[in-house]
Amino acid sequence: MDDRTRWDARYREGAYSQRPWPSEFLQKNIQALANKNGQRPSRALDLACGAGRNSVFLADNGFATQGVDISAAAIARGAAYATQVGVKVGWVCQSLLAQSDAKLEPVAPVAQKTLLRAQDSIRDPISNFGQYQLIILFRFVAPGLLTTLMDHLIPEGHLMVEEHLQHDLDEEIVGPRSPAFRVAPGALLSEVAASTQPYDVVEDFAGAVIEPSGDKAAVSRLWVRRLPG
Ligand SMILES: C[S@@+](CC[C@H](N)C(=O)[O-])C[C@H]1O[C@@H](n2cnc3c(N)ncnc32)[C@H](O)[C@@H]1O
Repeated sequence: MDDRTRWDARYREGAYSQRPWPSEFLQKNIQALANKNGQRPSRALDLACGAGRNSVFLADNGFATQGVDISAAAIARGAAYATQVGVKVGWVCQSLLAQSDAKLEPVAPVAQKTLLRAQDSIRDPISNFGQYQLIILFRFVAPGLLTTLMDHLIPEGHLMVEEHLQHDLDEEIVGPRSPAFRVAPGALLSEVAASTQPYDVVEDFAGAVIEPSGDKAAVSRLWVRRLPG
């Protein structure tokens, strides 16, 4: 079963309907990120946005927000939620994994320019998206993507990431059992450091947190700012 079919089925069965609150990491820092003094709305991108809890929160805080997810069922839920809250979000249904985009590579001989464009989109699944003041990626592991995302930040733009952390803590930790869906300590920063863009680290955390539900999770959080130049 491919990713889209599996996630569509999960959302249709009600996945995450008990988790409507925005990410605590995002909520805690929204004042430092949000638009100030009625300036033009800043652009925000929520990758693997799921049912839109964070996309809607960003839109409600003045960001011109786009949410991207592979699951059309998740996006339908997000769109209904945005309508309910009374905000606008641009939704895009596509994969963020380079392998899933491999079919974009032409098999027949084609003009060199077309081939290069296809290869670019394989390396960067959002190559046609432009730049943002804020990009968030929460709880979806896409190896190598963070390096690419640094090119999609405007200077002074922010990248915030939160992933489940590989751990040898106790059994009570919630989240995926497979280490493939968790990141090793330091892995997020290593991906950012592979970018050619200058940056500084605003926050880098790895450890146990208590979720708003009361569950205990092990997470890796990284917040970096792209520097000018
Ligand atoms: C654990 S959920 C996290 C959702 C959201 N970021 C949040 O924090 O509520 C993981 C999300 O990744 C999406 N996803 C899975 N595979 C994907 C892919 N290849 N490309 C884009 N999104 C994908 C799923 O549909 C799901 O919404």
